[in-house]
Amino acid sequence: MSELLTIDSISVSYGSIQALRGVSMHVNEGDVVCLIGANGAGKSTLLKAIMGLEPLVSGSISYRGEVIAHSAVEKSKRGLFSSKGSADGSQMHKPSLRTDEIASLGLSLVPEGRRVFADMTVEENLDMGAFLVKDDARIARKKQEMYDFFPILGARRKQKTRSLSGGEQQMMAIARALMSSPRLLLLDEPGLGLAPLIIQDIFEKIHIINKEENVTVFLVEQNARIALKASIDGYVMENGVIVLADKSANLLVDEKVRAAYLGQ
Ligand SMILES: Nc1ncnc2c1ncn2[C@@H]1O[C@H](COP(=O)(O)OP(=O)(O)O)[C@@H](O)[C@H]1O
Ligand SMILES: [Mg+2]
Repeated sequence: MSELLTIDSISVSYGSIQALRGVSMHVNEGDVVCLIGANGAGKSTLLKAIMGLEPLVSGSISYRGEVIAHSAVEKSKRGLFSSKGSADGSQMHKPSLRTDEIASLGLSLVPEGRRVFADMTVEENLDMGAFLVKDDARIARKKQEMYDFFPILGARRKQKTRSLSGGEQQMMAIARALMSSPRLLLLDEPGLGLAPLIIQDIFEKIHIINKEENVTVFLVEQNARIALKASIDGYVMENGVIVLADKSANLLVDEKVRAAYLGQ
């Protein structure tokens, strides 16, 4: 199984707050992988770092074996080595990629809290998701695919997004992220603030996107039970550090996970 995403010992800070400290993890192609952790653990920061929205203080992130983000410090160290003709095999990396460059490689983020454009229609929101797609016929085809997959969006395509329910807005945020035909979908708490039955609907869709559309999924959730049930591998983050990594099935029966995250 090939590694699609590799996070190698990354740290991210907001001023004096160290949000991520030496985080390493990987996502294999074709899998659903989850990261669980309490509010403030650093989950969203990790997704932002993957999309190039937060700079790394140290470490690197690779997609399909190619470095997409690294810390400026490491870059200059490598530059120094290579300018001296070091024989340690270290390579000069290209600069960290911009968010649009990362998106064009096949990564797409559904941000926390959905971040829909409330005053735009459903259709206009989907158009925004296709900003990297230049071919109008392809955009039209993609939109139709989304309306077929999420019939409620088809029925409401001309309505302002603010008139949709929370669950419908989440579906729309996912559809918008799928407009660019990603290979890796990053989901930031898709179940946040939604009723259990709606969360179930959304996770069924995520399952189909993974199994039938072959999209690899990296899922971040506070809702540990549903995230662990929906994934093959799982990571647990506390205060910016990965404290557990295992098969999700093992984490579901882990004493510490049960006590801290599953209320048992
Ligand atoms: N833009 C920001 N500026 C300063 N601190 C931030 C910012 N975003 C997040 N943080 C802090 O970083 C830590 C991790 O936040 P976050 O990644 O949002 O966690 P999670 O998504 O797991 O709830 C928290 O302590 C949070 O307060
Ligand atoms: Mg978050």
